[in-house]
Amino acid sequence: MAASILDLKITDVQLERYAKMIYKSTGIVISPQKKTLLSNRLRRRLKATGIADFDAYFKHLQTLKADDPEWDAFLQEITTHETFLFRDEPNWNWFQNTYLPEISQQAKQGKRPKSLRIWSAACSTGDEAATIAACIAGCLPQFTQWKISIVGTDIGIGAVEKARAAEFGLRAMRLVPDGFKRRFFQKDASGEQWRAKPVLTDMTKFNPHNLLDVLSESPFDLVFVKNVLIYFDTASKKKVLANIRQKMKPQGMLICGAAEGISDLLDGLERVYPWLYRTP
Ligand SMILES: C[S@@+](CC[C@H](N)C(=O)[O-])C[C@H]1O[C@@H](n2cnc3c(N)ncnc32)[C@H](O)[C@@H]1O
Repeated sequence: MAASILDLKITDVQLERYAKMIYKSTGIVISPQKKTLLSNRLRRRLKATGIADFDAYFKHLQTLKADDPEWDAFLQEITTHETFLFRDEPNWNWFQNTYLPEISQQAKQGKRPKSLRIWSAACSTGDEAATIAACIAGCLPQFTQWKISIVGTDIGIGAVEKARAAEFGLRAMRLVPDGFKRRFFQKDASGEQWRAKPVLTDMTKFNPHNLLDVLSESPFDLVFVKNVLIYFDTASKKKVLANIRQKMKPQGMLICGAAEGISDLLDGLERVYPWLYRTP
């Protein structure tokens, strides 16, 4: 009797082969401890595609282009998309109460143009980009006179599509201050989703991008790269940070996750807080 997909467990050889493929294409490290998790995730793709086993699915993946929906579905299974608005309070306190007032003052004194370019790298479904936009709309005086560009990127095409829709569930919205909710978001008829208003979405755009590649955009004043490098090894972290550095303006700010494990890899950047760095 043929074994059912539910009985399939990935072998050590298969795990190694998949881990190599995932590492090469994303920088994410799949450790041997993730064997059961990977088996479960891959079984879902076997079920969805009707492919009989892990070896056949591996061969199938090798034939796909980077923008193939099945490749994206595979990546969605192996990546973590957890995100929500106003995640990591210290970041947003600094952004609203220190950074935005400072650049406003500098612009008033003619020391900088009224323009601001921000990259939300590995943005998942766009919650971080929406938070950035809400802080700007709420805290940067006369922000409509500024040229603001918030670029969100993620390796997941499905995530980028969701980010473009700018819709957020109640859980994702739970830390958004009430005043910001009322001014910048609209609740839908079901009462389960909030949609960002044009005042926010006019500032944002989203594109697929792999952090292992250099982004084709002009340099940014601020780069947020949070809760993604934790999944990478030192070699991939170094590569990503070098790629990001190329896209930062002088005196640019890098906002990282608190547990990213990159503090020793940020040579040449001034440390402001354990999660905040400045280019010379
Ligand atoms: C846990 S989410 C973090 C979202 C957001 N930065 C935050 O802190 O809330 C991690 C995201 O990293 C993305 N990701 C993983 N590897 C990537 C890579 N090589 N290039 C770009 N994005 C990647 C995943 O698709 C996922 O959406």
